[in-house]
Amino acid sequence: MIHVEDLVKKFGSTVAVNGISFTVHDREIYGLLGPNGSGKSTTMKILAGILTPTSGRVTVNGIDVSEDPIGVKRITGYVPETPVLYESLTPVELFNFVGSVRGIPRDVLQERVDKLVKAFGIESYLGEMIGSLSFGTKQKVSLITALLHDPEVLILDESMNGLDPKSARILRELLLQFKEEGKSIVFSTHVMAIAETICDRVGVIYRGEIVAEGTVEELKRFAHEESLEDVFLKLTESQEEVASIINALRESL
Ligand SMILES: Nc1ncnc2c1ncn2[C@@H]1O[C@H](COP(=O)(O)OP(=O)(O)OP(=O)(O)O)[C@@H](O)[C@H]1O
Ligand SMILES: [Mg+2]
Repeated sequence: MIHVEDLVKKFGSTVAVNGISFTVHDREIYGLLGPNGSGKSTTMKILAGILTPTSGRVTVNGIDVSEDPIGVKRITGYVPETPVLYESLTPVELFNFVGSVRGIPRDVLQERVDKLVKAFGIESYLGEMIGSLSFGTKQKVSLITALLHDPEVLILDESMNGLDPKSARILRELLLQFKEEGKSIVFSTHVMAIAETICDRVGVIYRGEIVAEGTVEELKRFAHEESLEDVFLKLTESQEEVASIINALRESL
């Protein structure tokens, strides 16, 4: 379970996260939706023990991220929005490196690597340098790397980006399996259709604050809208702006 209470993160005078609170239960996929720059990635980096909060309290399965960030990293799998990988290693070398840093027994590591490599269909790239791989293949390597230690909690920042439809479907199935195993998953995306099919609950974040939270159905009722996209645009005060920009574009054509 992830518990976020009054979380604030400032970068100098920029308030990236402005006092947000939410809980992600075991066996739950929680979606963080919000426009560019609204504070999703910052929040997720804090949940993963990578950034320290300015104030507020975040616990991941009872471990406080400010007190024990390494303890949080031990039980968390984090996939950043842009894959950060050692470009001069091959995927196999990277998996072995991560396996040894995380103290995963060799046979267990091999079994997990085999399963995930097969699931994402990257067998033929295992000997290539990561730097030469396509964006989507790097994303798959990044996902596999985050899953090797069988984390209790998963933080996935726009992880469907760059995946082809088959791989996106596989990732969705994996996430549903992880959920069944009791894991807590936080998931950000700009694709509303993905949020609708994957997330048990979503939090809409706008200018560093959570402006609405609930199941997709609850949010639609709350906002009196029929699609999650319209709910999103309304809650982030973009609906009228989008309409006037579209009108202006039409007139100028
Ligand atoms: N390391 C940093 N130093 C300074 N400002 C930062 C830093 N990281 C994020 N910010 C600022 O914090 C705010 C929130 O950024 P964040 O990356 O969390 O947004 P986001 O919701 O993930 O956006 P996107 O949808 O574009 O990925 C932005 O104003 C951003 O410029
Ligand atoms: Mg982001």
